[in-house]
Amino acid sequence: MIKSLSQYKEDYRKSVEDPAEFWSEYSKSFFWRKEPGNILSWNFEDPDVKWFFDGKLNITENIFERNKKNENDTAIIWEPNDPNEKNKELSYSQLFKQVCSFANVLKALGVKKGDRVIIYLPMIPEAAISMLACARIGAVHSVVFAGFSAKSLSDRINDCKAKVVVTSDGNYRGNKTIPVKDVVDEALKTSSSVKSVLTIKRTNSKIQMVEGRDYWYQDLIKSVKNYCAAEMMDSEDLLFILYTSGSTGKPKGVVHTCGGYMIYSQYSFENIFQYERGDTYWCTADVGWITGHSYIVYGPLLSGAKTIMFEGVPNYPTPSRFWDVIDKYDVNQFYTAPTAIRALQSYGDKYVDGYEFRSLKVIGSVGEPINEEAWKWYYEKVGMRKCPLVDTWWQTETGGIMISPIPNVIDCKPTYATLPLPGIQPILLDNDGNEIKENNREGNLCIKFPWPSILRTTYGDHKRCKETYFSTFKGYYFTGDGAKRDDNGMYRILGRVDDVINVSGHRIGTAEVEDAINQDVNVVESAVVGYPHEIKGQGIFAFVIINNLKSGYDYSSSIRLSVTKHIGPIAKPDNILIVPGLPKTRSGKIMRRILRKISSKEFDNFGDTSTLLNPEIIDLITSLYKDKINK
Ligand code: WTA
Repeated sequence: MIKSLSQYKEDYRKSVEDPAEFWSEYSKSFFWRKEPGNILSWNFEDPDVKWFFDGKLNITENIFERNKKNENDTAIIWEPNDPNEKNKELSYSQLFKQVCSFANVLKALGVKKGDRVIIYLPMIPEAAISMLACARIGAVHSVVFAGFSAKSLSDRINDCKAKVVVTSDGNYRGNKTIPVKDVVDEALKTSSSVKSVLTIKRTNSKIQMVEGRDYWYQDLIKSVKNYCAAEMMDSEDLLFILYTSGSTGKPKGVVHTCGGYMIYSQYSFENIFQYERGDTYWCTADVGWITGHSYIVYGPLLSGAKTIMFEGVPNYPTPSRFWDVIDKYDVNQFYTAPTAIRALQSYGDKYVDGYEFRSLKVIGSVGEPINEEAWKWYYEKVGMRKCPLVDTWWQTETGGIMISPIPNVIDCKPTYATLPLPGIQPILLDNDGNEIKENNREGNLCIKFPWPSILRTTYGDHKRCKETYFSTFKGYYFTGDGAKRDDNGMYRILGRVDDVINVSGHRIGTAEVEDAINQDVNVVESAVVGYPHEIKGQGIFAFVIINNLKSGYDYSSSIRLSVTKHIGPIAKPDNILIVPGLPKTRSGKIMRRILRKISSKEFDNFGDTSTLLNPEIIDLITSLYKDKINK
């Protein structure tokens, strides 16, 4: 573990001078059935990246068998949505048995190495258990956030041709009960690859069970053994697919493979959180996102850590819930998102004042840029001005944290993710692809060398992977983010430079939302942009043209319903403006930068509009929006 600045510098130097040697050295502490013969081969043109090639391993053997001497340590603490319900604690040996049982149930359903399993679950221990069970038998898991709609779920099932869906009879979230199994039933009307649905009892909600397709997990587990031998995986075999939004088309399945992901999730976890045995670590993310994969499940469990899984939401039953949980378990490392911080800050300090947070050693932030005000509040009220605040920048595609302070090693600086971890080689490029060598200039953030957990492909469509990440700037991985570097080499992430909106830390493609809006029969055309939002970071603003506009009709509700149905409530527009037209260039492209300005209430200096076919539309839209604000 990196413990000093000089060690960081030394490790960083080694990782750049001889990356293969650096990672080969680190990989020696893992349990390989067969040592890798070739540490790294790569090119960013095809792209084709292989780490620890022809090594054989199973990631779950590195969680359980490798750490057997500590099998009585607590692995997972599960804190339910309702604080009055009993929590659960699972030791490594108990977790191992449950993973094996689950793996045997999947096998009994005919799941084999390489088959895809969709996990559509609330934050219950079975979410982690089912992921690990897949990994145990070499099945590829694809977790879908349980807030996505039936249509989104069905698209993902169809894209990866999943054989099994794992779900629950319902999902508690704050004071709501969400009928997740009904969503699965709906999704399966348009998905034919699924042979079985494995349902876990959680809410005892009344649900339909389809004979021969739907099974209760609680029934099947009775007839299986609680040991399952690990499937031998090649380092480059698929571990999981996680769907994420981009600037065009449907969400794509980001592919991570066994060896590299294992190495880097443990490495980054240990260093960023400086986890010591006996500590209690809590990441508030949902396992449906990459943060949950790498920093609730894989990173912590590979490191033998005690990791909390929280089923609830930050403001239920009160906006003190996070602080109560930290107190209850004496949490040492706490990792959450800026949107949660801003929301909790907005309820007022009375909900946080009075807590001493003596156990906390490190606090972290992830998912979106953290503004200075939220940074300071978090640092003062929760970190008590003593805990390093690690602002961690990374992506679904990077698999693990890329740029972040290391507690007590690299100084924290508000709104800066600071320095790259060893092995990570960032570079800033201008729009023509030239390197920006000077400091304090904005550029496109790219990475020039592979790290172990870089995405390998987008499932079923390698061309798309190449086009999205490796074509904008030849020879580099393009992150889609803008950044700048200060005189100390520290990076500040400025947000997306493409048509992706980051709403409450969730990535949403504008094209996807437009598609969903356009499904509403009243809609002729729409354009969606992100605008600054106090709590969510960015909000979704939709400019919509309606066919045969009638007064008195509630078009907004109908549009929001369409988005909820096609994507899920997280993508619902915050602001909808009905407009007579959209600013378009002569070639028919929507000039989004104008809409972005209007949505941010910047009503002048629109820059060069000479290529617009209909420049008069700017004034029209502006006055419509001003009228709406003044209403
Ligand atoms: C944004 C989440 C600023 C960024 C782990 C990135 C951040 C996208 C930060 C990836 C941060 C993530 N500061 N921006 N610390 N962390 N982002 O794939 O725009 O859900 O490209 O992965 O979130 O989102 P994703």
